[in-house]
Amino acid sequence: MAGGSGTRFWPKSRVAKPKQFLRLVGEKTMLQQTVARVSSMVPPERVLIITNKSYTALVQQQLPEVPAENIIGEPVGRNTAPVAAAAAAIIEARTPGASMAVLPSDHYIRDEATFCGILASAFAKAEAGHNLVTIGIRPYRPETGFGYIQTVAEKSEMAEGNPVHEVKRFAEKPDLKTAVSFLESGDFLWNSGMFVWRSDVILDEFRLHLPELHSLAITLQEALAGGMSVPDVEAFYQAAPSVSVDYGIMEKASTVHVLPGEFGWNDVGSWQAIYELQDKDEAGNVTDAAEVLMTGCKDSYVYSRSGRLISLVGLDGIGVVETDDALMVCRIEKSQDVREIVAKLQEEP
Ligand code: GDD
Ligand code: MG
Repeated sequence: MAGGSGTRFWPKSRVAKPKQFLRLVGEKTMLQQTVARVSSMVPPERVLIITNKSYTALVQQQLPEVPAENIIGEPVGRNTAPVAAAAAAIIEARTPGASMAVLPSDHYIRDEATFCGILASAFAKAEAGHNLVTIGIRPYRPETGFGYIQTVAEKSEMAEGNPVHEVKRFAEKPDLKTAVSFLESGDFLWNSGMFVWRSDVILDEFRLHLPELHSLAITLQEALAGGMSVPDVEAFYQAAPSVSVDYGIMEKASTVHVLPGEFGWNDVGSWQAIYELQDKDEAGNVTDAAEVLMTGCKDSYVYSRSGRLISLVGLDGIGVVETDDALMVCRIEKSQDVREIVAKLQEEP
């Protein structure tokens, strides 16, 4: 899923280049990291990328090893349920009943080997029957931007060396009070937004919970019928309702399972997250720029690709992000609010 339009990483991210296409941590872009991470299990010819059609050329450029017929351009974003339904229809037409993982293209994962072990177990559970499998993260703050998963502790089994729990309840983006109670209860996990299931199984769940998307998916699947050309998703998207897989399927389905995963997951939602992910110097500073000089600064972050010398004097908890044509300075814990700058920019004629 590479359709995000990215407003939280301005000025580095622009409409032309949202987060998944950027090198925010490390040498590869978030999208390239996502594909590389699973390459031992899923070869490039089995990777489907679903993105806005204005980004398909960029995706092909970043992932030359992925065949062109696997890069699907959406005419319009309709959130994640249509992405999952279209992918399932394409997979079902090409390789009926295959198990598939639905992965966001813009998450950071520190321990890739552990992640791959969990993903292998998720595939095993998905292949075994009518199971919707998700990967859960132990929560440590009452985040309201995530989904929460309540497990049934006594109902768990092992799948290829990792525990899988039956899910009692899936609650997408609760309000703060509810999130606090989930956190305190101790039996909830965060939904990582990574899902594993068989293409025929998820299509059946669409039939039950989002019948409109199901019939669009079946029409798409029939039109493809084993063909390997680039799928035409124009009609599918024009008619698709906008709904997330979390609200549309996961909250309603009755056969959800979760594998808890401890692999250093971060959904990289802000410059603050980027700062927190990286090794800091003794004063708590992180610099990612050609040349930075600091004096009397602590807990601050500098990111620049302009090549200019950047200097900071006597600052605490400040983020500086510079590109060739823009400069943003913020309090690091307020970095999410850069969205409001983007909104202002979009207001201008
Ligand atoms: N192709 C495509 N088209 N991709 C999309 C679209 C779309 O219309 N909308 C979102 N995506 C992609 C995003 O780029 C991202 O990689 C992924 O789908 C998830 O979408 P988000 O918009 O980032 O979802 P979220 O963060 O609000 O919530 C989801 O992720 C959380 C964890 O990060 C949910 O699954 C939550 O339950 C979960 O906790
Ligand atoms: Mg997200």
